[in-house]
Amino acid sequence: MTGRKAGYFIPCAILTNVEISNLLQELAMHPLSIIVAPGPWDPEPWRNEFQAAAEGRPVHIWPQDGSAIGDESYVICAWKSDPKVFDRYSDPKAVFSLGAGVDHLHVLRSRPDIPVVRVIDPDLTMRMVEYVAFAVLYLHRKIPLYQAAQARRAWRPMHQPAATRVRVGIMGVGVLGEACGKLLTQLGFEVAGWARSRRDVSPFQVFSGQDSLGSFLERTEILVNLLPNTPETAGLIGREVFKRLNRNGRLGNAFFVNAGRGETVVESELIDMLSTGTLAGAVLDVFNVEPLPEESPLWAMENVLVTPHVAADSDPEVIVAQILRDVKRLERGEGPLNVVDMSRGY
Ligand code: NAP
Ligand code: GLV
Repeated sequence: MTGRKAGYFIPCAILTNVEISNLLQELAMHPLSIIVAPGPWDPEPWRNEFQAAAEGRPVHIWPQDGSAIGDESYVICAWKSDPKVFDRYSDPKAVFSLGAGVDHLHVLRSRPDIPVVRVIDPDLTMRMVEYVAFAVLYLHRKIPLYQAAQARRAWRPMHQPAATRVRVGIMGVGVLGEACGKLLTQLGFEVAGWARSRRDVSPFQVFSGQDSLGSFLERTEILVNLLPNTPETAGLIGREVFKRLNRNGRLGNAFFVNAGRGETVVESELIDMLSTGTLAGAVLDVFNVEPLPEESPLWAMENVLVTPHVAADSDPEVIVAQILRDVKRLERGEGPLNVVDMSRGY
């Protein structure tokens, strides 16, 4: 049998003193309301998942449900939403990104009082590992050339260097970059990374800071971008970066994979490098403008594979579970996990 108060189910049974004290503590807490602002995403899977997991806490989808919040405390869970949500609901206990990146929450840089929390989850990480492994193997194993040969019904075996002779470089060696680098290392590739800060211990060589960028690029044949979009990284990858890549390695060409953020790349220069052969091919998941405009030359380039920002999707079941864990922490007076330093932007 159960009773109900403030959105919680209370078991009516014989309880120990500790259980009674925990229960009283719980009753003293105010459950947080949950505002979900999923921007361009279909709101219904998020509504369903939050309602199923919220244990009675009110769930409001914004803007679809209107201004349904009264004077109760709340959190906001957002993805590329209209920033007006932060004007309308200006005092959240925390703001949760529905993905790993927080660049879409840049308006909150002026609100250091609000904790901004991002997704760190093995499910999302593995999706990115799959995508990057696929993209690197697709380029390394010359699949675009075999697809073109197949279209001509041509049987054309090509020389295949061993992965152990191919140098992959990963820009951004955070949660995702490190996991991708580990798997590529296991596949045999010679992996190095580039990050902002120095590492003393790392599963592969990591170059750090602007001073070492040149050395990192000069060794790299397949460049993988997993940098976040911040004021420092915006427009960082352009002609000068692509020109410095290693075209004299076993692949005999340089390639680019972008699964980080489109804003970190100067897209006009990327298109130029792909047209002139400075870059022999690319696998691109993220772009300056999304959806990629119909008139973009990238759509029609034979040496480019375009995917629509799906490298590591946010699965509502996984993300909602992580957020509810933090909502409960907040209700207990504890801080959420995975809080982002918005002053540095990631
Ligand atoms: P993270 O753990 O925060 O790692 C970010 C990495 O970038 C860190 O290694 C950091 O260096 C490095 N970095 C940041 N600014 C830098 C700078 N100015 N110079 C050099 N290195 C810099 O982030 P993550 O979880 O790995 O995610 C990375 C990005 O992937 C996200 O921000 C998002 O944009 C993108 N993403 C894309 C998809 C998709 O579907 N396409 C899905 C999820 C995420 P330090 O280690 O020194 O701090
Ligand atoms: C997707 O782009 C994410 O940041 O999770």
